[in-house]
Amino acid sequence: MDRRPGQSRPHVISANSAGSRRLRLPIHADRELDAGARAHYDDPTYYTATYKRRIDDVQFYVTLAQKHGGPVLEYGIGNGRIALPVARHGVSVTGIDHSRPMLDDLRARLELEKPSVRRRLTVHFGDMRRVRLNRRFPLVVCPFNAALHLYTRPDVESFLGRVREHLTPRGEFVLDLSVPALQDLVRDPTRAYKAPRFRHPTTGEMVRYQEHFDYDRVRQVLFVAMDFQPQSAPERAWMTPLAHRQFFPQEWEALLHYNGLEVDKVSGDFYGGPLDRTSDVMVWHTHVRRGWRSR
Ligand SMILES: C[S@@+](CC[C@H](N)C(=O)[O-])C[C@H]1O[C@@H](n2cnc3c(N)ncnc32)[C@H](O)[C@@H]1O
Repeated sequence: MDRRPGQSRPHVISANSAGSRRLRLPIHADRELDAGARAHYDDPTYYTATYKRRIDDVQFYVTLAQKHGGPVLEYGIGNGRIALPVARHGVSVTGIDHSRPMLDDLRARLELEKPSVRRRLTVHFGDMRRVRLNRRFPLVVCPFNAALHLYTRPDVESFLGRVREHLTPRGEFVLDLSVPALQDLVRDPTRAYKAPRFRHPTTGEMVRYQEHFDYDRVRQVLFVAMDFQPQSAPERAWMTPLAHRQFFPQEWEALLHYNGLEVDKVSGDFYGGPLDRTSDVMVWHTHVRRGWRSR
């Protein structure tokens, strides 16, 4: 990555050449955003160690999958943090992801599982905005902010179109997203936010760690630069970029609505509590609106 997220280019939304007021917003093809959608998932060992204490959502999705009975389609399956427990509880899961390192790690983990669990998991490499499985599921999920890698309206519309195509008529689509944290959006991009040094789970060496936050208010994308510096070899420092679209709750509800998905319930935690001004997460339960026809 040759550019820091803090040095992002301004994003230009252009009118077309005929001068029409219709905006052309292609499915994102921006190297900076692509890097921010992938780099964090290049090191599954680090990912697993970083999120090992995040368990409330795992229990939530296991219970949801058991209630439906499966099969479940999981967008952004990653290395199976959620899919493996779901499969261990007897529910079949089909997953889609565009990260080869995460999927390779998932396959390695599957080797250690019982044959019955292995049989319940099917994985497809691909982009969640594009993959068509020609199959329908009673439950489609997109856990842990995978949808924050949908940066533009066409990204969201393509994705929600695929979701609709994969849902049975009475199927449920559930996803969770972080609520934009205003304190992160106003941080000074030139300032380094330091965290305690730690032993890197992949390299085994002690590293110094700091983050830079740079919020693009036009694209509504929060760029986070994660700086790692090995204590004994500072010259081997590296930076991992992460780009998260910030969907405000009313905006996300509108995107669902105008893409044919009706909200049954939205919670502010994984226990069904209300979404209110103190919530960090929003958990959306939706279904395809009756009579919806794609234009
Ligand atoms: C935060 S991880 C969640 C992984 C797993 N569901 C979990 O909860 O640990 C987000 C996942 O979405 C995947 N992802 C992001 N954008 C994607 C896209 N356009 N198509 C397919 N997968 C995508 C990433 O590769 C990553 O594995």
